[in-house]
Formats: sequence, structure tokens, C-alpha cells
Amino acid sequence: MTRIFSGVKPTGHLTLGNYLGAVRRWVEADQHKADALFSVVDLHALTVEHEPARVRRLSRQAATLLLAAGLDPERCTLFVQSHVDEHARLSYLLECLATDGEVRRMVQYKEKGTRARAAGESVRLSLLTYPVLMAADILAYGTDEVPVGDDQTQHVELTRDLAVRFNQRYGHTFTVPKATHPKVAARVMDLQEPGSKMGKSHESGAGIIYLLDDADVVRRKIMRAVTDSGQGVEYDRAGSPGVANLLDILSACENGNPEALAGVYQSYGALKKDTAEAVVELLRPVRERHAELAADPAYVDEVLRSGARRARDMARPLVDRAYQAIGLLPAG
Ligand code: AMP
Ligand code: TRP
Repeated sequence: MTRIFSGVKPTGHLTLGNYLGAVRRWVEADQHKADALFSVVDLHALTVEHEPARVRRLSRQAATLLLAAGLDPERCTLFVQSHVDEHARLSYLLECLATDGEVRRMVQYKEKGTRARAAGESVRLSLLTYPVLMAADILAYGTDEVPVGDDQTQHVELTRDLAVRFNQRYGHTFTVPKATHPKVAARVMDLQEPGSKMGKSHESGAGIIYLLDDADVVRRKIMRAVTDSGQGVEYDRAGSPGVANLLDILSACENGNPEALAGVYQSYGALKKDTAEAVVELLRPVRERHAELAADPAYVDEVLRSGARRARDMARPLVDRAYQAIGLLPAG
């Protein structure tokens, strides 16, 4: 059976970008068609300036939201990364395989590093090694497919390179995974800055739709979205990124096609209005279910506990094999 692994970092509240780029597919397709694992990858949240209590709060909230969105613990394994030691154990081995040059090339490292330096913060070593930990997340489970947004393509490529290299040098151990992306909305852009990705850790929330925003906030943010100075409604991601982003969002909500939808609208106002209502309806059940689940943290804890147990049992034998293949003495 196909094995699927994906994760979300608890660095901020989950956004519409997370939902359309990744989570919705996990719920609607991946958990039904494969043996799927989804993780709140909390170790990755420590790669930038962080507040311990906030990371803890956001980790629980992310897990609760994934359940609210429809992940079913009977169908998939949901767990918190730091509850399973094998991720860090395998990451070290992969650090012994990856080169300094290949991790420094990662676009996300360059961008986040530049941002940290500009804010007068130091750049943590873990920000550099982060894609190697991500590779360990994926490889520890013999993963075939990694359903992610566009921004993660480069990291999954690195994961593939490391798997192939390990297998060539030390004998076949890892499955070589591939990234999968949604047909539309693989990269939802910020509503205020349509040139950049809608990311949960941006300072200003005006261009970001959070899954827990209430309906009026969602409407307001979409009605105030930056559009372009052109005339008609056209689907042109380069020339007209603000409008194209709204068309992507609306077509993702309606399972439509952004080019076809562009022909339906005469004005930006009408497009915004329909997009706002579609997003409100898309998120309504998630918000309602989240409120119910948040009232029962013991249930969420139990899901995470049993998820970690299952994940550990899957990862442990494979990581043990990698330890032996690379030349370490078995513990006996
Ligand atoms: P992160 O929030 O960086 O942990 O991302 C979790 C998942 O959501 C990854 O698969 C990302 O590729 C995806 N994702 C995050 N932001 C966006 C976005 N703006 N558009 C599409 N996918 C996204
Ligand atoms: N790096 C991913 C992101 O920023 C999160 C992540 C960590 C991940 N480990 C993963 C995604 C393994 C897929 C598989 O979105």
C-alpha cells in the first residue's frame, strides 16, 4: 500500500494556504487511498525565534484543527514529531550524508536567514539543517508520496537525493519519495502582497486568512485584498497576481478552473464578494468542529498518544536498519 507522510509546523495559526495547499487533500484523498501519517512537526518550530508556551499552544491547536478539518484517527496516524525519537535519530545520519553546499542552496533558508538577520536576530544552526530533519521525517517511514504546497518542492528534491545517495553507498534502505501538489492553489498568495506566499508567520495578518478567523473577518480581509490596476478580470499570475490569487482561491473552493472563472466576472467587486462567501462556507464546518474538539483536550491528547505509538513502531525498525547499514554497531 502507498505510504504517505506530511506535516505542518506549529509556528503560527494555520492559514487558508495550509488548508488549500495541503490539509484539504490529506482529508479528502490521502487518508482514504493510502497508509497515511500526518505530523505536527514541532521540532521545526524551534528553528526560528520562539516562545516555549506559544509553541506548545500552537501544537495542540494545530492537532485539533487537523482533526476538525476531517483527519480521522481510524484512517490515518496523527502525531506530534517530538514524541517520536526516530526523527532526530535519523536526522543525524542524514547530516552525515548531506553536504554543506546543498543545504545552503535551499531558498527557504536564504529567505528566512535574511529576514532573521534584518531583524537583528542570529540565525540558528537548525535553520540550516532543517531540510535534513524534514528528509528524516519523510524517509523514516518508507514514504512514497509527500502531499505539500509548491514551496516544499525543493526540500522534497533534497530528500530524494539523500535517499538515493544513502542507498547507493550503504545498500538499499530508503524508499525514494515524490512530492504531490494540488491542481489549483498550490501556492496561495498573501492578499495584501500578492507577490509573496500567504505564510502563517508574517507580522501583519491583514493579507492572511486564518482557519479560525470568524466569518466577518474573512469577508473584510478578502474585500480589502489588493487587486491590480488592469481593467477586466483576467487569469494572469505574473501580470495580475492579486486577481489571479482570488481566482485560484475561488476555484479551489468550488473545484473549478481559474481561467474559466475569469470569464464569468465583469468586476473585481463581484469576484471578491463570491470569493469571500465561498471561503466562509468552506471554513464554517472546520471552525464549528474545532470549537467542539477544543472543549475536549483529553480526546485530542489520546489521539496524539496512540498516533505516536503507531508512528514509533513504524519508524523504529527502518531507522535501526539505517544505523547498521551506515556502520554503527547494533546495540544488541
Ligand atoms: P507550513 O505552514 O510551512 O508548515 O506548511 C504546511 C503545509 O502547507 C506545507 O505542505 C506547505 O507547502 C503548505 N502551505 C503553506 N503555505 C501555503 C500557501 N500559501 N499556499 C499553498 N500551500 C501552502
Ligand atoms: N517543511 C515543511 C513546511 O515548512 C513542514 C514539514 C516538515 C514537512 N517535515 C515535513 C512537510 C515532512 C512534509 C513532510 O511546510
